[in-house]
Amino acid sequence: MDNRPIGVFDSGLGGLTVVKELKNILPDEQIIYFGDTGRVPYGNRSRETIRRYTAQDIRLLQSFDVKMIVAACGTVSANVLEKEIEGLKVPYTGVLLPAVQSACAVSTNGVIGVIGTTATVRSGAYGKAIRGIRPDAKVIGHDCPLFVPLVENGMVERGNRITELTVQMYLTPFLTEDIDTLIMGCTHYPLLYGFISDIFGNHVTLIDPGKETAHYVQNYLTSSNMLFEGDDPQPNRYFVSDTVDGFCETAEKFLQRDLNGQVERIMIEDY
Ligand code: DGL
Repeated sequence: MDNRPIGVFDSGLGGLTVVKELKNILPDEQIIYFGDTGRVPYGNRSRETIRRYTAQDIRLLQSFDVKMIVAACGTVSANVLEKEIEGLKVPYTGVLLPAVQSACAVSTNGVIGVIGTTATVRSGAYGKAIRGIRPDAKVIGHDCPLFVPLVENGMVERGNRITELTVQMYLTPFLTEDIDTLIMGCTHYPLLYGFISDIFGNHVTLIDPGKETAHYVQNYLTSSNMLFEGDDPQPNRYFVSDTVDGFCETAEKFLQRDLNGQVERIMIEDY
């Protein structure tokens, strides 16, 4: 057993969709979450900047003696390789590999769509990872830069016309491509699940990075004998790099449950 917390980070609040899935299947694990709300979005920045921010995010989480680190951010996962992270002392995963493994397993015709931030699609990392598992696969990627601001502004209620039109604009090009699987390559996108599935109906399987990553973490901790055991699970802790005002309300939308933990502001530049 290992009763230390799991560290999870994202550029903002999107990574809470991963926390939601982790809490569903590993309810007793304590989560230390960092959302870099002062520097979100990462998705339109250069690779060098994303790498520098990631190094700081990881140093912050390691200062809490976490037992594992999860980059709950498609942009980080696509742009920063594990071997590029200096001083990493604990097991690490991003959301890319778990999502790619699942997509390769469920796709029948090998035509796989990927949506994500501009930096994610530009990196080509999803295509490379998919072809590493299924060399015959055809991968079609499109960036959807307006999805993150729509989600961060809470425009996720079904029937919202602006969100409907935006989703149509970005996803209609996939309809002529014969994809049977679509990776939501950004952790904000599961909040748009209903809008996205309205476009494709039952013909396309949507891969949720949060669900796949939570299963990856569960398998890893189980096989390494690192799960929490005991009668006193600790409350989660949330850290942000900008104001905490409004955090609880928005975070609970992402988590679809009570926060169960306190929120604090930290100076990420100090790490
Ligand atoms: N949640 C981030 C991701 O998964 C997107 C937000 C951003 O652009 O920083 O890529």
